[in-house]
Order: sequence, then C-alpha cells, then structure tokens
Amino acid sequence: MTNTESKMNIKKGDVAEFQIEKYAFEGKGIAKVSKNELLGLTEENGNEKNYVVFVIGSYPGDTVNARLLKIKNSYAEALVMEILTPSSERVKAKCKFFGTCGGCKQQDLDYDVQAKYKQQQVEEIFNKLGGFSDFEIEPIIPSQNVFHYRNKMEFSFSEKRWLTKEEISKEGILDKDFSLGLHIPKIYDKVLDVDECFLQSEVSNKILNFTRDFFKKRNTSIYSTKTHTGYLRNLVIKQASLTNDLMVNLVTSEENDELVNEYCDELRKEIPHVTTVINNINKKFAAVAVGDYEKVIYGSGFIYDEIGKHKFRISANSFFQTNTLQAEKLYQTALDFAELKGNEIVYDLYSGAGTITIFISDKAKKVYAFEAVESAIADAKVNADLNNILNVKFFAADLYKSFLPIVDKYNIPKPDVMIIDPPRSGMHPTTVDDVIKLSPNKIVYVSCNPATQVRDIKLMVEAGYKLIKIRPVDMFPHTFHIENVALLIKG
Ligand SMILES: C[S@@+](CC[C@H](N)C(=O)[O-])C[C@H]1O[C@@H](n2cnc3c(N)ncnc32)[C@H](O)[C@@H]1O
Repeated sequence: MTNTESKMNIKKGDVAEFQIEKYAFEGKGIAKVSKNELLGLTEENGNEKNYVVFVIGSYPGDTVNARLLKIKNSYAEALVMEILTPSSERVKAKCKFFGTCGGCKQQDLDYDVQAKYKQQQVEEIFNKLGGFSDFEIEPIIPSQNVFHYRNKMEFSFSEKRWLTKEEISKEGILDKDFSLGLHIPKIYDKVLDVDECFLQSEVSNKILNFTRDFFKKRNTSIYSTKTHTGYLRNLVIKQASLTNDLMVNLVTSEENDELVNEYCDELRKEIPHVTTVINNINKKFAAVAVGDYEKVIYGSGFIYDEIGKHKFRISANSFFQTNTLQAEKLYQTALDFAELKGNEIVYDLYSGAGTITIFISDKAKKVYAFEAVESAIADAKVNADLNNILNVKFFAADLYKSFLPIVDKYNIPKPDVMIIDPPRSGMHPTTVDDVIKLSPNKIVYVSCNPATQVRDIKLMVEAGYKLIKIRPVDMFPHTFHIENVALLIKG
C-alpha cells in the first residue's frame, strides 16, 4: 500500500495497491501494511506495517493493484488485478495456456528463482513450524530439465470444452462439445483443449492431437460424469526417459475392439515411435484413469525405464516417479544421507514399486520393503527379478496400523537404517511409534510435503533422535511441489 494513502477505508471486494516483499506458500506474494491504514480503523493501535496481505498471482518485487478477497483479524487475502511494476524475477511464460491451465502455476517466474524460493520455504517450515535451528541445510538440487520433464501425462475427454472469454462473447461457437486436454483448477466438468504441453515431449503432443482429431472426426461419444453414458474417458501417455519405449493408454467406458484397433493402426502409421497401445476399460463412476481391466492392443503392454543402473518395468497402472532424471537424484540423496557400508539391514517404508529398495540394494546387506498396494508390491517383485536382485523382500503392510506384528511374524531382523517415503499426508502416529520402537541408528525421511514431514520428525526428535541435515530436490519445475530429504540419527 502506498504511504500517501493514510486511511483507505478498504472493505472486501475493493482494490488497493500493494508492494510485494516476500514469497509465501503456493506462490502467494506477501505485502505488509498497516491494518489501520488499510481498513481506515482508529489509530489507537498504531500504524505499524505488520498486517500481512497474501496476494495471489504476485511475486516479491511486484507492485500491484489487487482485489481484497478475505479480511481476517490477523491477515487478508487479495487477488492481483493489474501489475503496476513487475518484479525483475518475472519471465514471459512459454505456454499459451499459462494462467488458464492449472499445470504450471509459476511458469512466469525465473526457474532459478523458483528453486531459491522452494529452498527458502523448506527452511522456513523447519525453522518456524518445526522449531529446528541446529541442523544443516544442503542446497536444493534443481531439475536437470525445466521443460519436457514428465514421463507420464494424463488427459481427459469432455463434452464440455472450456471456452475463453473471447470465445464466449462470440456467437455460434463451433466445436464446443468435444475436447481432450487438461482440467482447469476447481472446474471438474470442463476441459481445456491443449494442443501443446511443454511438460511432455513433442511426440506426446503429436499423440494428443492425433487422438483428438481421430475421435472427433468419427463423432465418437464422450463419457459424461453426470449421465454416465458415452465412450471416451482418458488418454494416458507414458514415455520412458532413458529408453525409446512409449505407451499410449486409451481409457474408455466399454469395449469397442473395431474402433480401438482402427485407432491403434492409424496411430502407429502416423507416429511409429509408439511401442505399445493399451485399452483400459473403466466402468466405474469415479473419474479416475484406471480401468477395471485392460486389453493390450499392440506391443508388450509395458514400457521399461531406467533409474541409475537399474531397469524398471512400468505397466499402464503402476506407479513410477514422473520425473525420471530427478528421481535418480532424489534416491541418490537418500542413499548419500544413509551412508551405507554394505552390512546394514535397511527397511524401506511406503516402498511403492520398489524403486528405492532396488536402487539402494547393492549398498546394503538386506532391504525389507513395506507397502500397502498389492499391485505395487507385484511390480516391485518383477523389478527385483528383472535386475537379478536377491537381497530384497517385499511385504504387504498397511502403515495406518502397526507393522510390528509383520516384523515378528516373519522374523525380520531389526533395522540399522530406515528409509521412509510416505504420501503427502505423512506418517500415521502409530507408524512413527513403530519406527521409534524399532530404534534404527539412522532414519532417512523422503517427503513430498515438508509440513507433514516436520510434524513427524518432531515426534522422532522428542523420542531421542537428532535432526542432522535436510536437502530439497526439485522434481516439478513451475509447480509449487517440493520434495525434501532429511537425515536423523539416534541420539
Ligand atoms: C510417495 S510414494 C513413494 C513410493 C516409492 N518410494 C517411490 O519412490 O516410487 C508413497 C507410497 O506410499 C504408499 N502408501 C500410501 N498409504 C499407505 C499405507 N497406509 N500403508 C502403506 N503404504 C501406503 C503408496 O501406495 C505409495 O506407494
């Protein structure tokens, strides 16, 4: 807020000018103003500029006009209407859909600056939320590729194409009932027709556009989440980063072999790079791109990719880190933190398809992996065989409950090191308790949500562990996601 405006008398819905000083979570800029000045209140509490306004769509260094959306006792929230002076850290977004599509929310911020702010946020979470000060913070590992880094993209078909403001103002819009693209944040029934996405490769863009044209020309029906009728649901493209494997998975509500075979033939003529084509049939109402069963139309039904020296088989519905090159850096950081000598018993909790288990296997005596999803465990076993790895064992375990009965039942030796990589919600307190009872010398905690990570680490520290160091790794440029690795040692 400018200094000259002493009493503005602003209320919700009004627009005011703000100077952005700091970067906050989810890319919101922070302006600090005097609450009394902003709201035209009495000045008995002074005019100190300590009232925080979170300004959506702004970056530090910007001066903006923003509309007040929320006015609370301790903070306000506003939305940028106009950038009066742009921050020197801004860049021109590469993608024409930036601002509409929800995929790359900060593509208009210089990538090095994105990485710097991600690092600062992790530091702040550990300092303020965790209350930790005596530990080392290693510099963030930025993503090797800033664009084209995703090995999997999932697109949706919709009979409601998202229309731009200009299109809405025109009459007689054509082609508004067929789209294949990405969802817009918070809008579930409309889809933005994306013809080029810089997160995937050029060949994947070709597949996307070919698929849209193919079915549009044939007037193929689209599945409606309201009426639960129609055929086309999703297109999922998986492309290996380190092999030439390329999978196209068409998700439909029912079988139509004739149409799918024709699609496959035409697709392969147009894009011979495709190595396998799959049809997932999803009869469920839920809007997920996973079928009740699948039919392999062409090729093996799998792709193979590599992390480090290991090969991984990936099926249409198996989980695999979406930024392959960064996954290697994340796992290497976990391995470096663990400093394995070769004689350790390691537990890998939340092991998914066994990628960390396999990655670290030749540095440990034995690795025991625990995971809830049966199909991921099946993939993990296949991947261990594929890499001729004999010193790993996979167990089905629901880590919402204590897994100590499994440890006892199978006589699993106690761990020297535990590697823990839970989902965003973090660990269940029972599992934290189990870890403390198992009492490994080292814990390496890999997380995609530093806030839940710090919550769990606090419990471990209260139980006698010491936080030694952390290192953020950027897996998802242009998004707000942050991955962080932490090392704890038994005190
Ligand atoms: C962030 S992923 C980590 C996967 C693997 N470490 C990797 O790098 O690919 C989290 C994993 O936790 C598993 N998971 C989620 N809830 C679980 C639970 N209650 N018990 C066990 N595993 C769970 C998920 O299935 C998923 O595989």
